[in-house]
Amino acid sequence: MLVKKEKVSLLDFNPTPINYLPSLSKELGVELFIKRDDLTLYGAGGNKMRKLEYILYDAIQKGATTLLTVGGAQTNHGRQTAAAAAKYGMKCVIICVDEYPGEISGNILLDGILNAEVVLKKNDGRAQSVQLAETIANVKARYEDLGEIVYEIPLGGSDVVGVMGYYEGAVEITAQAKRLGIEDATVITGVGSMGTYLGLYCGFKNEGSPLGLTGIAILPFADYQDKRIVEYFQQVKQEYNLSIDASRKDFNIETSYTRGAYNNPDFNVRQAIYRMARSEAILLDPCYTGKVFAGVLDMIGEGKIRKGEKIILLHTGGMPGLYTKHHRLEFEKELIDHITILE
Ligand SMILES: Cc1ncc(COP(=O)(O)O)c(C=O)c1O
Repeated sequence: MLVKKEKVSLLDFNPTPINYLPSLSKELGVELFIKRDDLTLYGAGGNKMRKLEYILYDAIQKGATTLLTVGGAQTNHGRQTAAAAAKYGMKCVIICVDEYPGEISGNILLDGILNAEVVLKKNDGRAQSVQLAETIANVKARYEDLGEIVYEIPLGGSDVVGVMGYYEGAVEITAQAKRLGIEDATVITGVGSMGTYLGLYCGFKNEGSPLGLTGIAILPFADYQDKRIVEYFQQVKQEYNLSIDASRKDFNIETSYTRGAYNNPDFNVRQAIYRMARSEAILLDPCYTGKVFAGVLDMIGEGKIRKGEKIILLHTGGMPGLYTKHHRLEFEKELIDHITILE
C-alpha cells in the first residue's frame, strides 16, 4: 500500500467475506457477489467501523475522552461511533437536527444501550447547518465544562482521516477478487457522505486495481454534492500525496435511483429487500443497502448492467434501520399476512 496511517483495531477479523449469491445470479443473469462489511464485529457492524479505526487513533493521539458526531436521528454512523467509544472507554454524544420519532427503536435504542447521549434539536426552520453548528458548540461546551476533551467527527466519518478505511478496504477487496478469479468485476456501493465511495475510488486507482467502481446515490445529488466530491478528492490527494488525479466526470455515481429523498419508505426498495432476504437469506436496510439493491435491479432491467457481468455488492450494514418506526409501519402493512393468530 502506497500510503499508510496508524489505526486502532475495530474489525478484529479480516477480511470480511465476499460470497457468491447463486440464486440471485441465476435469476438475474449476472454473476452477483456480496462483500459483507455488515459483519464487522462491534455495535451491530457496518461500513463506519473501517473509517473509525483511523479516526479513533487520531482521537486518542489528541487526548480525546469524548467523541462527538452528527447525523440523522437514526444515524448508523452515530451508532457505530458509540460502539467505538464504548470499546475504547470514551464517552459519545450524537447530535441530530431531527424530531423525536415518538419511540426509542432502531439505532436510537442501540445508541442508548451503548451509553451514548443522543441530542435531538427540534428543527426551528433556520438553515440546518446553522442549527447544527449552534447545537454542536453548546453541547461541546457542556462536555468541556465537565472536563472532557471532545473530538468532533463529521457526518459519516467522511474526512481525510476516515477515508483511509475504504482505501484499505479497496486493497482488501482487490486481493480477495484476485483469489476468487473475479478481478474484472465492478464493486457497487451506496453514496451518502461519500467517504466509502471516495476511499474505494482512491484505493483502486492509486493501487492500480483492475476492479471497476459504481456508486449509487442514496439521496438527491445536487450542486453541493457535485462540488463536494471533487473538493473532498483534492483534500485526500493532498493529504496523502496521491499520484492520481480526477474531476467530477471520473466519479461514476448513478444519481437516478435515489427515490426522491433520504431515508424515505419506498415500495420498490422494500421489494428489493424481500428479494434479497427470500433468495439469499441476507438482510438489507431500507435507507442504504435496500435502495442500492433496488437501483441494481433497475440497472439490470435497463441494460446498464449487462448480462453475465460480475458485480460485487458492498453490504455496508444499516440493518437496525428496519426497526425504525416510519419504515416498520410500512413493512407491517405488507407483512401482516405472515402472522397466523390462533384462538
Ligand atoms: C448502512 C450505510 N450504507 C452506506 C452509507 C454511505 O456511506 P458514506 O456515508 O460513506 O457515503 C452509510 C452512511 O451513513 C450507511 O450507514
